Amino acid sequence: MLRRWPLLLLALAGLAACKHAPRLEGSHSDAGGAAGTDGGADLAADLASVDAPAADDATPAVPEVGGSDAVDLDGVVRPFNTCDELSRSLFSQCLGCHTLAGPPNPRYPDLYAYTRTAADFLAKVREGGGLMPAYGYNLISDGDVVRAFDRFTMTKRPSLDDVANTGPVQPLFAPADAVFPAIVTHRDDGAIVTRGAGRLHARHENEQAYVPYLQSYWEKQSYAFVIEDFTATATKHFVVTYLPSYTPYMTNYKAWKASGDNAVFLETVYMPQVDAAPTVVSTAPVGGIFQLDETTVPPDRSLTQGQNLELELGVIKDPTRVMNPFSDVIRYRIGVGGLTPDSPDRASFFPPLDGPVPEARNGGDTTIPWLKLGQDAYFDQMALDTQQENVQPFLEGRRLFYTDFVTGNNVEAGQPPFPEQAGKAGPRASATACASCHPKNGRGPAIAGATVSKQVTLGDGRVVTLTRPAVSARIAPPLLGLGLLEAIDQRTLLLGADRLDCNQDGISGRANFVMDPTGILRVGRFGWKAEKASVRAQVAGDAAGMLDVSTSVSPDANGKAALSDQDLARLTTLMRLGGVPPQRSATDPQVQAGALLFQTLRCSGCHWTDVLTSPDHPLAELRGQAIRPYTDLLLHDMGPDLMDGGGVPTSTTADAPPSASEWRTPPLWGVGLRATVNGNAGLLHDGRAATVEEAILWHGGEATKVVSFYKALSATERAALLAFVDSL
Ligand code: HEC
Ligand code: HEC
Ligand code: HEC
Repeated sequence: MLRRWPLLLLALAGLAACKHAPRLEGSHSDAGGAAGTDGGADLAADLASVDAPAADDATPAVPEVGGSDAVDLDGVVRPFNTCDELSRSLFSQCLGCHTLAGPPNPRYPDLYAYTRTAADFLAKVREGGGLMPAYGYNLISDGDVVRAFDRFTMTKRPSLDDVANTGPVQPLFAPADAVFPAIVTHRDDGAIVTRGAGRLHARHENEQAYVPYLQSYWEKQSYAFVIEDFTATATKHFVVTYLPSYTPYMTNYKAWKASGDNAVFLETVYMPQVDAAPTVVSTAPVGGIFQLDETTVPPDRSLTQGQNLELELGVIKDPTRVMNPFSDVIRYRIGVGGLTPDSPDRASFFPPLDGPVPEARNGGDTTIPWLKLGQDAYFDQMALDTQQENVQPFLEGRRLFYTDFVTGNNVEAGQPPFPEQAGKAGPRASATACASCHPKNGRGPAIAGATVSKQVTLGDGRVVTLTRPAVSARIAPPLLGLGLLEAIDQRTLLLGADRLDCNQDGISGRANFVMDPTGILRVGRFGWKAEKASVRAQVAGDAAGMLDVSTSVSPDANGKAALSDQDLARLTTLMRLGGVPPQRSATDPQVQAGALLFQTLRCSGCHWTDVLTSPDHPLAELRGQAIRPYTDLLLHDMGPDLMDGGGVPTSTTADAPPSASEWRTPPLWGVGLRATVNGNAGLLHDGRAATVEEAILWHGGEATKVVSFYKALSATERAALLAFVDSL
């Protein structure tokens, strides 16, 4: 960002003989800078090089600039006004995976628990391994690695409160908001209890008809279930309670699915109807209870931890109908609890998909299973861990999303109208249904009309032509995983904002502090410029701004709301629980090489790979998830080429509204599926970039160094990076 901070910092850093300055400078930024450089250079190897020690490893004095904030911020002291003695290069490069404060990320080793020597620690950083990149001197000096080692081995893991002074900025959720019970609980009798819910489907999982929502899917077509897992007790067995949203005529259960087959289950048994209705969250009819024990286990499977149990329900709603629906395939994790999207059937996909799932679960437990057919609906599935209390609101929210607020018609083929909603859109509506601008929850079309072009030459001489619209506008962004973004603790975001660019890598995100509708200062998260603090505020904003439908958040001139609070809540649930697609080809060596480049090139400096969500969100589905969002939700100055028409050219204070060239880092979930879902929808805020490469080459401002690294890559390395981004 072009603010006065870097100037101030440089002045102080000069006095302090700052060690940071040379780190990312030197041959690499030169190499990437212009055409005519050595295009064949293996930049990845270079970034990981351990040959050249860093120029100066002296511990610097700490630049103290905190006091000046009071002037810019109306007396408010924001977090992280100072450059910590522990270089921010550590924070910004390691924090993605190894959390530095708050709970450790279960996907990665907890460095505060590190027991080996400083030399071992240094060797690991230089050599990397598995999913950890090898860090060369250009990325982190020996001195910083040793300071990191000292920090991890000599201090206790700090809480988020220890490190983040958030001043008057209020968190979206407090612990008391976590009202819905946990999804997986351990009971005194030794049972692991898992709650879950889903919707009915016309056919089995690997068939085209599985994917679309059934006709009138919001009526009596959802269900919940409870799995009690006693495999850790003396009598190894399961008890499954099926809780449909209304009592069907009859239901059968199918258990233990044959791998690679669409619908062959070892057990298919009609369930006895039971009268008693056990209350889980809300009272629901009971379709039946069934029990599975060791006698039902197929020869190649067992009731042991690490195995999955697949269940499917065949729901006979009406004995006179030929086709009756089925449930989702419920893949339960034996001995662990919770569901998994992992499908051994993926090997039968075309092209075949590989695993393993832990790396592919970009949305944590919300991650949906791979779709074999009907992949254009990848952004239109509910989170895998959706619960009984949210399944109906989700489905009713989806109905509203497809409702034309002028005619009351449902704009999705084959669905009946919603006459109660007719006539709600006012005369200023830009469109009459949410779905018209957000087709299949994907991105809107690129802005049409006159264009401006420029050419960029890559290090190996390849020329890329970049084209953008002559007018400035914002397209509708894809809508998935939004609840997870809302569930990230604001302290995690603020901890990562390298506002002073202490590590001098050019990247210095800042939060967009916004007033939410109730007049409270919060971290903005949604929209291309992070102008809305919560999903509800964004939905109400779009209802008012795009559809001219009033809500209690934006009432009409008479103080009335056309959309009820209950309907606003339904749309909010829909937006919060849109499931994140799994990564495809997570174990492909090219994709893995690209994932490491994504780190060492520092794409991950803005597109954070790994984040934990907070335990405070009201929705149990979204709490404590280890997600890979590929965003920091912070604003970054992206340079003049990405300026839009509005706003001031540059922001001069830390709490100024976003400038014309500042944009929130968008999550990269589903980027590789954009063509599948929305034809040739373009990337970036105005859809100008047809490919990921074009999107990267439009990055400027804070990303200038990263782009120069990209240009210097060999063709093989570029292909790997792009394959990785397209696997998301
Ligand atoms: C992309 C994710 C990622 C990033 C970023 C990352 N690491 Fe790691 N790190 C890992 C993984 C995965 C492992 C375990 C790998 C293995 O066992 O080979 C690991 C292991 C380690 C270990 C060994 C831990 C042990 O208990 O043996 C150290 C030390 C370490 N990382 C330090 C760092 C430092 C310092 C940084 C920042 C310069 C960093 N890592 C950045 C993913 C990451
Ligand atoms: C006229 C087109 C239009 C309509 C109608 C519309 N939107 Fe949007 N929506 C947009 C645009 C454009 C943006 C990006 C706004 C920005 O960045 O300033 C957006 C942003 C959003 C976002 C934020 C996504 C993110 O990643 O930050 C959500 C959520 C959203 N819309 C939901 C809805 C819902 C729900 C409705 C119906 C009540 C709706 N939209 C109606 C065009 C529309
Ligand atoms: C300084 C922060 C920063 C860095 C570094 C960065 N990005 Fe971005 N990225 C952004 C921002 C901000 C946008 C949105 C800009 C806009 O829409 O005008 C964006 C947009 C994108 C998009 C388009 C997303 C969409 O939904 O339209 C892709 C793809 C992308 N970046 C990939 C990368 C890759 C790959 C790298 C590394 C080579 C990288 N970025 C480095 C901040 C960054």
